[in-house]
Amino acid sequence: MSKALDGVRVLDFTHVQSGPACTQFLAWFGADVIKVERPGTGDITRGQLRDIPDVDSLYFTMLNHNKRSITLDTKTAAGKAVLEELVRCCDVLVENFAPGVLDRTGLTWDRIQALNPRMIAASIKGFGPGPYEHGKVYENVAQCAGGAASTTGFDDGPPVVTGAQIGDTGSGLHLALGIVAALHQRTSTGRGQKVTVAMQDSVLNLCRVKLRDQQRLAHGPLTEYPQYPNGVFGTSVPRAGNASGGGQPGSILKCEGWESDPNAYVYFIVQAPVWDRICTVIGREEWIAHPDYATPEARLGRLRSIFDTIEQWTMTRTKFEVRDVLNAYDIPGGPILSLEELADEPSLRATGTIVEVEHPVRGCHLSVGNPIKLSDSPTVVVASPLLGEHTEQILRDILHLDRNRIAELWNAGALGPAAEGPPPSPPQAASSSVETRSSSRRVR
Ligand SMILES: CC(C)(COP(=O)(O)OP(=O)(O)OC[C@H]1O[C@@H](n2cnc3c(N)ncnc32)[C@H](O)[C@@H]1OP(=O)(O)O)[C@@H](O)C(=O)NCCC(=O)NCCS
Repeated sequence: MSKALDGVRVLDFTHVQSGPACTQFLAWFGADVIKVERPGTGDITRGQLRDIPDVDSLYFTMLNHNKRSITLDTKTAAGKAVLEELVRCCDVLVENFAPGVLDRTGLTWDRIQALNPRMIAASIKGFGPGPYEHGKVYENVAQCAGGAASTTGFDDGPPVVTGAQIGDTGSGLHLALGIVAALHQRTSTGRGQKVTVAMQDSVLNLCRVKLRDQQRLAHGPLTEYPQYPNGVFGTSVPRAGNASGGGQPGSILKCEGWESDPNAYVYFIVQAPVWDRICTVIGREEWIAHPDYATPEARLGRLRSIFDTIEQWTMTRTKFEVRDVLNAYDIPGGPILSLEELADEPSLRATGTIVEVEHPVRGCHLSVGNPIKLSDSPTVVVASPLLGEHTEQILRDILHLDRNRIAELWNAGALGPAAEGPPPSPPQAASSSVETRSSSRRVR
């Protein structure tokens, strides 16, 4: 079956998380992603947070599915020349190095355009133009700079960063969308363009509702926040704890077993249209028409005591029993799921959102598959490449270099230390019949 991005070739000059997350999406959609890595070490994450000695870390394997790897020392003259040849043959270049690195490598925008006017050059940086544009940035710095940390946590505690990688993978997602838009525009203009995403901007985009609240604050207290009605509002949006980010009040409530299970909780939303059903479920029918409770406005000043009362009910059931009752009554809410529970969730396995991937060295491991489902372009998740696994294949099949030229490049140290010599042939492909749960290894 064809894939959405069949025929698109990506020069993947990314590392760590944000850039690799972007190119992994492109690869999942069928682009031929060629990851250029430094000989010897490769992407630094190959060796970070290793659970098994001398085996590519899960950090790397889970962000680099469906790609090919070429080792190239882009600081050697011969390596630079190969890089430029790859620029000529690719549609998209993606990089997320520190500001200035790409220019130092020789790939200024002018040079890229001279080599390939159709090239889409996509970059992630920490900040856009301005006083911070030269800074190096990692995930949590972006969360702090983009409004997430200042609005996450509890009012009486410090700012908190979230476990969701909104700075890194969030920026990668934004960049992938920009690349796909630029590819589409190229079909009519014939020209490439620059696509840039700043991590600060991505996080701020994901914190859009907090900028909404910042402006509402000028017109009075934020009545759905836990600070209302007794707390104090300053001049900036405060941390709202677990209060709902939408227009319906919500809270995290204890369920049976909470004393020993840190995740025995449920998220409960007091959605106005189902107020009568909520009252019925928790056995407080007298609240349905009571003037102190009957309308959302009347409830706003009493939310804490309302949630306390609901919690008396949720604590008598497991979080899954609570979910079943809420679903039966069409009341929005759901259990807090641990990663252990998610990893074992059959429905996520069935859709390919959690996949088992067979890696040639580490063996079977779990990964998050493509969360974006295209009916005409199903994702086959393939193990991440070994360092330099496709070096010779890419030089031969894409750049059409002959055996002698490849040997010259080895001898010049462009592909790695000459003593290393050509890497061993890649393992044979073993295809899987189940596309969304594939554990096969693709060799092109
Ligand atoms: C993530 C980040 C902080 C890491 O910083 P770092 O580890 O110091 O790496 P840098 O990006 O500064 O530099 C990479 C260096 O490796 C070199 N390099 C990379 N690939 C190479 C290759 N194949 N061969 C030779 N050299 C290579 C680069 O040329 C550069 O060298 P230089 O600084 O001498 O010019 C930084 O890259 C960054 O801020 N990126 C933008 C924001 C971002 O994406 N952050 C999130 C990452 S998840």
